[in-house]
Amino acid sequence: MTKAKFVPYRDFTEMPAADMRARAQSFRDTMALRRSVRQFARRPVDRSVIEDCLRAAHAGPSGANMQPWHFVVVADPAVKAEIRKGAEEEEREFYSGRAGDDWLKVLEPIGTVPLKPFLDDAPYLIVVFQKNYAIAANHHRQNHYYVPESVGIATGILIAALQHAGLATLIHTPRPMGFLRRVLKRPANESACMIVVTGYPAADATVPVLKKKYFDDVVSFI
Ligand SMILES: Cc1cc2nc3c(=O)[nH]c(=O)nc-3n(C[C@H](O)[C@H](O)[C@H](O)COP(=O)(O)O)c2cc1C
Repeated sequence: MTKAKFVPYRDFTEMPAADMRARAQSFRDTMALRRSVRQFARRPVDRSVIEDCLRAAHAGPSGANMQPWHFVVVADPAVKAEIRKGAEEEEREFYSGRAGDDWLKVLEPIGTVPLKPFLDDAPYLIVVFQKNYAIAANHHRQNHYYVPESVGIATGILIAALQHAGLATLIHTPRPMGFLRRVLKRPANESACMIVVTGYPAADATVPVLKKKYFDDVVSFI
């Protein structure tokens, strides 16, 4: 006999088929315009927009409902500068050998370099932490399940929400990311997995010309 309690699912509104198609197309068009932006304007963005996008991310599904995430929103210029310093140290190592030739080769068309001015310029760095386990009230470890999958889904929703709200984003992963836990004073059961950089693109921002796989090569219907 399950111990779960159930309530009627009333938060679902069926919409006319034409509306459903129009909404799917509109969202497709919005997301098709997303690019990773690496030059941000030093313009402020209303914090409530960021909060709402994070609420959308936090509504995501998670393995065994453990919600194994924590998002640190960094707007303080001094903390952003510390993050930039740590990231550039790791990135210098990465580009001068740690990455290995294969990785550097596929990064060539993207044109990324160790300098990361966007970490100072963008109004918000949202640092995504995965909570690898929780500490229960009796000091025992509570395992978390499907942590990378859950955090990846939540971060995907966050990027979609920011794009939908009219902001640009970049996923930045300056590895190893241990410095982020130190700078942001997060506990030992968490590890940083991504920085979502967000704000307005700089007026003269450019993006690399990249080849994308065809839709039919990545989707099969059976
Ligand atoms: C998990 C992940 C890690 C990434 N890490 C970095 C990064 O550290 N620095 C960077 O400039 N871009 C990073 N990117 C962005 C990718 O380079 C970018 O998504 C890819 O080149 C495709 O370009 P587009 O996003 O403009 O379509 C990352 C993307 C993902 C999903």
